[in-house]
Amino acid sequence: MSGDIKQILISEDRLKEKVSELGQKITADYADKNLLVISVLKGAAVFMADLIRSIDLPLQIDFMAASSYGKGTATTGRVKIIKDLDIDVSGFDILIVEDILDSGVTLSNLIDILRSRNPRSVSVCALLSKPSRRQVEIPVAYEGFIVPDEFVVGYGLDYAERYRNLPYIGILEEQVYS
Ligand code: IMP
Ligand code: MG
Repeated sequence: MSGDIKQILISEDRLKEKVSELGQKITADYADKNLLVISVLKGAAVFMADLIRSIDLPLQIDFMAASSYGKGTATTGRVKIIKDLDIDVSGFDILIVEDILDSGVTLSNLIDILRSRNPRSVSVCALLSKPSRRQVEIPVAYEGFIVPDEFVVGYGLDYAERYRNLPYIGILEEQVYS
């Protein structure tokens, strides 16, 4: 499987370090708040599992799923909610955890949906960001790494539902999807 990876972009150690740094910042910022961490399935599940264990505060978690690219590597511009939250978010300080911010289309749709449900606040924590691909500006309170415009997999991120279990972030060989 790792033969499909052209280059390891972010090692397991660097991921660990970053997750703990983000967790410390969030712990400091949310001390007096009512934290609800929402992960966008499936990609962000791995990151979220690690991140919440580095946040030293009482918190709740919930999950949402939005339509992804399927087998392709480019956005369709439209977002469909596939799985909605169980929790009523009113009064919560929501932290949306995303694996990667690409065009921003998915996240901007989700933010609008969540804001309409009267939470106390909505902020975003994205492990990765590809600013060169942004179509919609999204304020990101917590950002892990800026990555180049390459298709990356691992640590939750997939190509055609594979590679999510790699412990690092790697660049996929072009021949895998061409
Ligand atoms: P956006 O709506 O274009 O920002 O898309 C964000 C979603 O696209 C992410 O949550 C990922 O599921 C997927 N995505 C974007 N870029 C990549 C990538 O390089 N590797 C894997 N998934 C990606
Ligand atoms: Mg995703």
